[in-house]
Amino acid sequence: MPQVLIEVDRLTKSFGATKAVDGISFEVYAGEIFGFLGPNGAGKTTTIKILTGLLTPTSGRARLGGFDVVRQPLAAKRILGYVPDEPNVYQKLTAVEFLDFVGDAYGMSARQKALRIGELLALFGLDGAAGDLLGSYSHGMKQKVLLCAAFLHDPKIYILDEPTVGLDPRSARLLKTLLREVTARGGAVFMSTHIMEIAQSLCDRVAIINRGRIAAAGSVLELQRLSGERTLEDVFLGLTDGVTGTGMAAAARGPLPETP
Ligand SMILES: Nc1ncnc2c1ncn2[C@@H]1O[C@H](COP(=O)(O)OP(=O)(O)OP(=O)(O)O)[C@@H](O)[C@H]1O
Ligand SMILES: [Mg+2]
Repeated sequence: MPQVLIEVDRLTKSFGATKAVDGISFEVYAGEIFGFLGPNGAGKTTTIKILTGLLTPTSGRARLGGFDVVRQPLAAKRILGYVPDEPNVYQKLTAVEFLDFVGDAYGMSARQKALRIGELLALFGLDGAAGDLLGSYSHGMKQKVLLCAAFLHDPKIYILDEPTVGLDPRSARLLKTLLREVTARGGAVFMSTHIMEIAQSLCDRVAIINRGRIAAAGSVLELQRLSGERTLEDVFLGLTDGVTGTGMAAAARGPLPETP
């Protein structure tokens, strides 16, 4: 049995009356890319923010490499590479300065940092802009710098929130190759995406989340077979309803005023 690298157990997160994540459980094993699919507002980013220590869960547990994300946050973060959905970067640093800072946070030596930063910037085609301020970077370039930061210390676990949004086709292909290399080395990848083609071509297993609950999980083929649907898109549309949240917030607000 492969090692469990990401373990989520009855995880819940409420924002007031809204249960953004409602008792989800799943495991991601060493050597697999796990896709997290779901409509807007289904709870993907909330789940990812709990896994990466940016939000505390209301109840339930999550572990990365066996380390509890709430009780052992530093140990959990040490083995994690994270790419957020919005590429918010320090505008006043150059790419090299930013990556150097990230390398320091992970305790990398000056030699390791120099080697790895040069390698990654060249790989993502950013070597020409390495000395430019990140404030001058395009959206996709910022996204690439954050990918460089996630890969910098060669972590075992990668958590990516819609990582291909804003990437050009060559960079998206490069990212897929890099993630495949991660799993070949025994790492695990957990990524949210709205792109069915990516889920289909890249993910070993997927989970479909709807209104904070997991509606189905398995390989794309398994989901197609079980549901009798022809494509992953049909499986997705059959299991999700496009309604944001649990509707509890709306219920608490009362009926909407009538439009004239
Ligand atoms: N900080 C917050 N305060 C209040 N409600 C929040 C907060 N963050 C998220 N929510 C709510 O939690 C629910 C889930 O949001 P989340 O961002 O996890 O969705 P998502 O699946 O990532 O959607 P998308 O596909 O649009 O990125 C939504 O109803 C959202 O309004
Ligand atoms: Mg999101």
